Amino acid sequence: MMCLFKAYQFLCLLLFFLNFQANLSSSSSSSSITQLCSHDEASALIQFKSSFSIDKTNSDSAYCDNDGTKFYPKTDSWKEGTDCCSWDGVTCDNIKGQVIGLDLCCSWLYGSVPSNSSLFHLPHLQKLNLAFNNFAFSKMSSKFGEFASLVYLNLSGSYFAGQVPSQVSYLSKLVSLDLSENSLQTLDKHTLEGFVHNLTEVRQLFLDGIIMASINPNVLMNLSSSLRSLSLSRCGLQGKFPENIFHLSNLKMLNLGQNINLSLSLPQFNRSSHLEILDISDMTFSRELFDSIGNLVSLERLDVLDAFFSRGGLPNSIGNLISLKHLHLRLAQVSGSITALGNLSKLNYLDLSRNSFSGQIPSSLIKT
Ligand SMILES: *[C@@H]1O[C@H](CO)[C@@H](O)[C@H](O)[C@H]1NC(C)=O
Ligand SMILES: *[C@@H]1O[C@H](CO)[C@@H](O)[C@H](O)[C@H]1NC(C)=O
Ligand SMILES: *[C@@H]1O[C@H](CO)[C@@H](O)[C@H](O)[C@H]1NC(C)=O
Ligand SMILES: *[C@@H]1O[C@H](CO)[C@@H](O)[C@H](O)[C@H]1NC(C)=O
Ligand SMILES: *[C@@H]1O[C@H](CO)[C@@H](O)[C@H](O)[C@H]1NC(C)=O
Ligand SMILES: *[C@@H]1O[C@H](CO)[C@@H](O)[C@H](O)[C@H]1NC(C)=O
Ligand SMILES: *[C@@H]1O[C@H](CO)[C@@H](O)[C@H](O)[C@H]1NC(C)=O
Ligand SMILES: *[C@@H]1O[C@H](CO)[C@@H](O)[C@H](O)[C@H]1NC(C)=O
Repeated sequence: MMCLFKAYQFLCLLLFFLNFQANLSSSSSSSSITQLCSHDEASALIQFKSSFSIDKTNSDSAYCDNDGTKFYPKTDSWKEGTDCCSWDGVTCDNIKGQVIGLDLCCSWLYGSVPSNSSLFHLPHLQKLNLAFNNFAFSKMSSKFGEFASLVYLNLSGSYFAGQVPSQVSYLSKLVSLDLSENSLQTLDKHTLEGFVHNLTEVRQLFLDGIIMASINPNVLMNLSSSLRSLSLSRCGLQGKFPENIFHLSNLKMLNLGQNINLSLSLPQFNRSSHLEILDISDMTFSRELFDSIGNLVSLERLDVLDAFFSRGGLPNSIGNLISLKHLHLRLAQVSGSITALGNLSKLNYLDLSRNSFSGQIPSSLIKT
């Protein structure tokens, strides 16, 4: 760089400085001189860490172990004076050094996340996972609705209680929202309508265990066609589930299990469906549903527990579910013969306990 004229010297210096900055940002963050992380964000993170006690016994390790997530206190590696972008669970934007991701799932955090928590001083977050910590039945702050760039929010199994704040529906960029397994949380009609209306990009919506008993499930009718996974088990849903959800062209997973007062009329399935996982255990529906189920050629997992079939017998169409790996028909009050299962060569989980089937297990199902 050559700076020949005085008038350009300032500009030149500036360019040099910017260039230098840019080189710093793209270099590795291991050296203590090349800090990416801004002072404000680093101190927000340290404050957030110190607002909790780290307590293994209060968290639920079962889920973490199940899905292979490591269960350990990630914040232990956070040390003041080091680059926060190198801390466990923290992701930064490579150019600007802003904190854009915080993944502290299964990290033994115990305490609450009040509205004045320094968590809300991380305005650039795109991905936030605080699943399987213990927020001590505190209320989820409406400030969660202010993360304008958030695409991924996971607060599963984190012991939040009370009403889900309606402001969560402002997070219109969300692709994945998981609030499941917070069994003392409730959702009101306005907020659910907000999800349907505003979350136009959403692919995964997991609300299992959140009570929404007073809401007419018809509210869900206009959910985004981006949806791939919808999980609403144990939500106390009652009334009629909107049939058009089954027609969402990208839908692969639908879990409506254990909403015992939810009635379902399954549509006439055709072979264009991409459904891979269907859980309709413990709910009210008629046998007719099963007549077209054989068209779900992509179905890998089917759970039907405690369901009542008005006419007995396992429909032969079940034998067409060539992709099926997992079949659970426990207590389904199904009677008759089970030879229809003979062609399901991929089956590796079969639970038919407490039915009244007759005949032999097809020998093709018995693998050595
Ligand atoms: C920045 O890096 C580029 C190439 O990577 C180099 O040409 C340039 O001189 C560097 N600038 C400074 C200020 O180190
Ligand atoms: C948040 O507010 C409470 C009182 O409402 C106060 O005790 C606490 O110190 C505040 N926390 C922070 C991080 O400002
Ligand atoms: C939320 O995090 C938990 C723990 O890592 C994981 O099991 C679950 O699949 C996540 N949910 C989504 C929708 O990614
Ligand atoms: C959708 O989000 C906007 C803010 O982005 C909010 O003002 C509006 O109330 C939300 N709509 C619903 C139905 O919640
Ligand atoms: C769904 O969208 C249609 C068309 O925009 C509208 O007429 C209908 O009232 C909406 N249904 C619900 C339950 O919001
Ligand atoms: C199901 O409906 C019955 C009758 O309205 C009601 O007494 C019961 O509490 C409901 N059960 C659930 C789990 O919603
Ligand atoms: C199959 O069902 C989808 C809706 O789920 C519908 O759009 C399509 O026209 C149907 N195809 C046939 C051949 O019936
Ligand atoms: C199994 O598949 C064979 C060959 O496709 C077919 O002839 C037979 O009817 C099927 N059996 C059952 C029980 O669906």
